[in-house]
Amino acid sequence: MPSTTSSVLFVAFFLFYFLSSTDGLCKFTPASPGWPSIADWNALNSSLSGRLLRPLPPGAVCHLSEPDFNVTVCATVAEEWLTNSFHVNNPISSEWNNWNNDSCLPVSTDPCSGEGYPVYVINATSAEHVKLGVDFARKNNVRLNVKGTGHDYLGRSTAPNSLSIWTHNLHGITTHSSFEPQGCGYSIPTTAVTAAAGHGIGDVYLAIGPLNQIFVAGLSETIGLGGYLTGGGHSPLSSTYGLATDQVLEMELVTPGGDIVTINECQNTDLFWAMRGGGGSTFGVMTSVTLKTFPAPTITAYIVNITAPADLDAFWSTMAYVLSQYPYLSDNGASGYTYMNPQQTSTNGTNPSSFTGLFYAFNTSISAISALFVPIQSYINQSYPQSVFFSAKTYEIPDFYKYYLNYTDTAAVGSDILVSSRLLDGVALSKPLPVLKKTLKAAIPPGLPANINLISGKGVWNAQPRGGSDAVNPAWRKAYAHFIVGVTWEPLNETAKKELEWQLTYNYTQALRDLAPDSGAYVNEADKYEPNWQQTFWGSNYPRLLEIKRAVDPTNVLWCHPCVGSEGWKMFGNDLCEI
Ligand SMILES: Cc1cc2nc3c(=O)[nH]c(=O)nc-3n(C[C@H](O)[C@H](O)[C@H](O)COP(=O)(O)OP(=O)(O)OC[C@H]3O[C@@H](n4cnc5c(N)ncnc54)[C@H](O)[C@@H]3O)c2cc1C
Ligand SMILES: *[C@@H]1O[C@H](CO)[C@@H](O)[C@H](O)[C@H]1NC(C)=O
Ligand SMILES: *[C@@H]1O[C@H](CO)[C@@H](O)[C@H](O)[C@H]1NC(C)=O
Ligand SMILES: *[C@@H]1O[C@H](CO)[C@@H](O)[C@H](O)[C@H]1NC(C)=O
Ligand SMILES: *[C@@H]1O[C@H](CO)[C@@H](O)[C@H](O)[C@H]1NC(C)=O
Ligand SMILES: *[C@@H]1O[C@H](CO)[C@@H](O)[C@H](O)[C@H]1NC(C)=O
Ligand SMILES: *[C@@H]1O[C@H](CO)[C@@H](O)[C@H](O)[C@H]1NC(C)=O
Ligand SMILES: *[C@@H]1O[C@H](CO)[C@@H](O)[C@H](O)[C@H]1NC(C)=O
Ligand SMILES: *[C@@H]1O[C@H](CO)[C@@H](O)[C@H](O)[C@H]1NC(C)=O
Ligand SMILES: *[C@@H]1O[C@H](CO)[C@@H](O)[C@H](O)[C@H]1NC(C)=O
Ligand SMILES: *[C@@H]1O[C@H](CO)[C@@H](O)[C@H](O)[C@H]1NC(C)=O
Ligand SMILES: *[C@@H]1O[C@H](CO)[C@@H](O)[C@H](O)[C@H]1NC(C)=O
Repeated sequence: MPSTTSSVLFVAFFLFYFLSSTDGLCKFTPASPGWPSIADWNALNSSLSGRLLRPLPPGAVCHLSEPDFNVTVCATVAEEWLTNSFHVNNPISSEWNNWNNDSCLPVSTDPCSGEGYPVYVINATSAEHVKLGVDFARKNNVRLNVKGTGHDYLGRSTAPNSLSIWTHNLHGITTHSSFEPQGCGYSIPTTAVTAAAGHGIGDVYLAIGPLNQIFVAGLSETIGLGGYLTGGGHSPLSSTYGLATDQVLEMELVTPGGDIVTINECQNTDLFWAMRGGGGSTFGVMTSVTLKTFPAPTITAYIVNITAPADLDAFWSTMAYVLSQYPYLSDNGASGYTYMNPQQTSTNGTNPSSFTGLFYAFNTSISAISALFVPIQSYINQSYPQSVFFSAKTYEIPDFYKYYLNYTDTAAVGSDILVSSRLLDGVALSKPLPVLKKTLKAAIPPGLPANINLISGKGVWNAQPRGGSDAVNPAWRKAYAHFIVGVTWEPLNETAKKELEWQLTYNYTQALRDLAPDSGAYVNEADKYEPNWQQTFWGSNYPRLLEIKRAVDPTNVLWCHPCVGSEGWKMFGNDLCEI
């Protein structure tokens, strides 16, 4: 073929490639002419001392067409798929199938393309490895992804056609009796812990437990520090001390420009502000963090069980009353995790509509916490003595770490889900009981229990983050409760997926928005398709966050949705393009 013809074709191809679906630039994919050559990838691998991976999808072992097909291994993978640890320990797996478009499930009769997973992965063990990945992606117009654990409910830790940085093997924990932030020239008189970003919160509990210290963190030991802290982080201790990210004294970070920097109240203060609540994989890749720790309190637990076997209306009325008590409970030192599980019909016995509440108070007596639940019991005794049943167990635990292990979250993962949420303040929770009842009935989809976390309150409102403020959603600073609902469907059922996603975003969640129109939602446990996401997740902090994002990452080396500054780009199928 004459060379003129081929170059015309080549130019035509380029024009077609860039203009077919968008007007702007797209990140390269393995199908684009600009994708780095094998030699480029090999050079990256050498600079990383061989730490570049090209993993098969985690479900490939179940598929005859794949090179690692093995019936025995498949059986194990299919079983472990339901656990947190399987996805945490795999370089590319996500806990929720839909974020990889169900493209290679551990089911031999399903398809396996691996479409939706990252292409290459850096198994990073140092900030230098992270920097090499960030630089490579930026210079080569390759989409960059950051995976800590793959827990994310919004699919922000996986990306098709990307180079992924896997932070799981960044290790190291040290404890401090006081802490001097770099460049400050003074010491903060608090106990603290520094942990590399690959650690789950359980590792940190384990390291400080013997010192009789605790830190503000959740109850699922595998939660990764990176996503948890950049999103805010709630904990049973939040109602006392504030959100997890309010405890950050310093972070080490690789910026989108490839600089390894230390951020704190004395240097890189804009980034220090933004990284605490502004969201994951947006302002940089955190490689380590230093957090304040506290003396371990004693814990008094009060476990409530309310059932209504035959009277659904009585159940809803009781739930409205219970919800109305949350400000009172919180103001008096209780926090907790609660689950409302209505059944669609009265079942008279088996599988009743139920409420479970794991409530806690610190340094408190059993009688003091028990007294807080008298109004709920009186309400039930007076209104529904024959149809609603209340029971409670209570005990004191001297050791927070043992308590945490006893109640660590073991719920199954590995399914297709979408969650949505709203932060509820005192105004919303003080609305008349019929309004609360109507809201609950309209907001809770059948199938998954609503998870109402009573984890905000005074500690969060009065928190004093270092440097004066941080970027968490201001809605947290007046909220009591974080109300989560969700939908789930069978993998590969596109009809059910579309229908339920729509219902969750525009129908169920609307009831919660109507109850608390001026509030917002916690970005880490929220709806990926939330319509007004900038306002809902960041409120009045959004303009400053956007300004910092544009300054630190003008070419969008890091991009995810819904993340600060993501407005200018969009997914077209599996291509990420400027619009
Ligand atoms: C079982 C379970 C229990 C949970 N319990 C709680 C709880 O008690 N309290 C609470 O507040 N939340 C809780 N969550 C929500 C949790 O905060 C989010 O899922 C969060 O995204 C987890 O962060 P990760 O790093 O583990 O996850 P990933 O999915 O790996 O990452 C989440 C996001 O953070 C980014 N990211 C990860 N690491 C870094 C890093 N080092 N630097 C920059 N960006 C990074 C990712 O790119 C992605 O955008 C829970 C979630 C699950 C699945
Ligand atoms: C990177 O190098 C290591 C060691 O040489 C090798 O085992 C690995 O397969 C390479 N990775 C890729 C993606 O080629
Ligand atoms: C399948 O995996 C098992 C367990 O790892 C191993 O013992 C066996 O040899 C593998 N089978 C094949 C055919 O590779
Ligand atoms: C990633 O690196 C860690 C630490 O060097 C190593 O133990 C692990 O086997 C590596 N994982 C993969 C999948 O290569
Ligand atoms: C609990 O009491 C201990 C011992 O007096 C104290 O150090 C700690 O700060 C208290 N914690 C809380 C949450 O009240
Ligand atoms: C709650 O009470 C019901 C009815 O007494 C009982 O069947 C159920 O097991 C209890 N649930 C919990 C979590 O204790
Ligand atoms: C449940 O039992 C109650 C009282 O025994 C009865 O009135 C009601 O009709 C029953 N409901 C159903 C759905 O069976
Ligand atoms: C509610 O009724 C039960 C059973 O009759 C009783 O044990 C309990 O003391 C009552 N509680 C309140 C607060 O009225
Ligand atoms: C663990 O949970 C069980 C059952 O809920 C309870 O009986 C036990 O006291 C708890 N132990 C600790 C240390 O919390
Ligand atoms: C998919 O879900 C829809 C809606 O929930 C349902 O009607 C349909 O039967 C499901 N399809 C399959 C193949 O299961
Ligand atoms: C919203 O959900 C309710 C309860 O499931 C249902 O009755 C109603 O039809 C739904 N509305 C729309 C517009 O889908
Ligand atoms: C996801 O998979 C479905 C088939 O199950 C396919 O129709 C759709 O195009 C895929 N989505 C993307 C973004 O590739």
